[in-house]
Amino acid sequence: KEHIALVGQFNSDNASEIEAFRIKYLGKKGILNDFFAEFKSVPNEQKKEFGQVVNQLKVAAQDKVNQLKEALENSASAAHIYGDLTRPAATAPIGARHPISIVKNQIIDIFSRIGFNVSEGPEIEDDWHNFTALNLPEYHPARDMQDTFFIQTDPDILLRTHTSSVQVRYMEENKPPIRTISPGRVYRNEAISARSHCFFHQLEGLYIDKGVSFADLKQTLQYFTTEMFGKSRIRLRPSYFPFTEPSAEVDVYWGLETETDHKMTKGTGWLEIMGCGMVDPNVLQNCGIDPKEYSGFAFGMGIDRIALLLHQIPDIRMLSENDIRFLDQFKSAL
Ligand code: PHE
Repeated sequence: KEHIALVGQFNSDNASEIEAFRIKYLGKKGILNDFFAEFKSVPNEQKKEFGQVVNQLKVAAQDKVNQLKEALENSASAAHIYGDLTRPAATAPIGARHPISIVKNQIIDIFSRIGFNVSEGPEIEDDWHNFTALNLPEYHPARDMQDTFFIQTDPDILLRTHTSSVQVRYMEENKPPIRTISPGRVYRNEAISARSHCFFHQLEGLYIDKGVSFADLKQTLQYFTTEMFGKSRIRLRPSYFPFTEPSAEVDVYWGLETETDHKMTKGTGWLEIMGCGMVDPNVLQNCGIDPKEYSGFAFGMGIDRIALLLHQIPDIRMLSENDIRFLDQFKSAL
């Protein structure tokens, strides 16, 4: 009975002390085996009580050993989880901005310096904002210029083919003067290759006020290309867009002349970088702006193409594959 009290009091968080305790009571030459050996010589009338007490002692000793061992293991695994709390943390890997974002932010920065704000709109559009308001009525052949993804159940709903749709929304909701650029993803049902994808990114600009002329457009484009590509020559070629009249294609001379100002050194000649023109009076009218009072210009460029040029990326598909080895290379960029 004394031993039962002693066993109850025993406590330790040391593995070898616990083991010594176990051997002392439960080992081959332990106290319990001594008691069991004595059992034969105990007088018959005391055997029952003696047996009960020895059994109690055995259970108490076993319970104690199990309980202390378990506590020891728990604290060992806690130390394993928390480790050395004073150790410095491992550094988290730093991400890189996507080249599309880098170039988009550069363009936004350049235009915001001359008073343009940024506007956005939905990628899933209706026919009015993507086509009809832009002087492209139903059955107009110019709709074929942009192969369109339509929603099967509703011919009025489509994936926008350009962010001119955002300009329509902006004109519907804002009074001139308007100076806004609209960056965003657009979709066209085109074969995927190194040069073109079924989705890409555009940034379109719109300026509407009293007395805006083609000279303002040209000067704005010259400002933009100089800021974006360094000292550069641009060339406007007559073109056609249903929503602008006159319309032009803008080429930038991507050659040796710009070598000293820019990292790109290959003399590749004239490169087409955007479309532009004076907003067609019909479009102003469709958007609730009086064409007798106001005029304006618009332009639109592909962000992906400019990113490919500036960063010498050989394949447009790399921009949407999310290959870390590719993305990591933009860590040092803006
Ligand atoms: N929306 C035209 C396109 O997607 C680009 C453009 C914008 C042309 C504005 C002229 C004026 O190709």
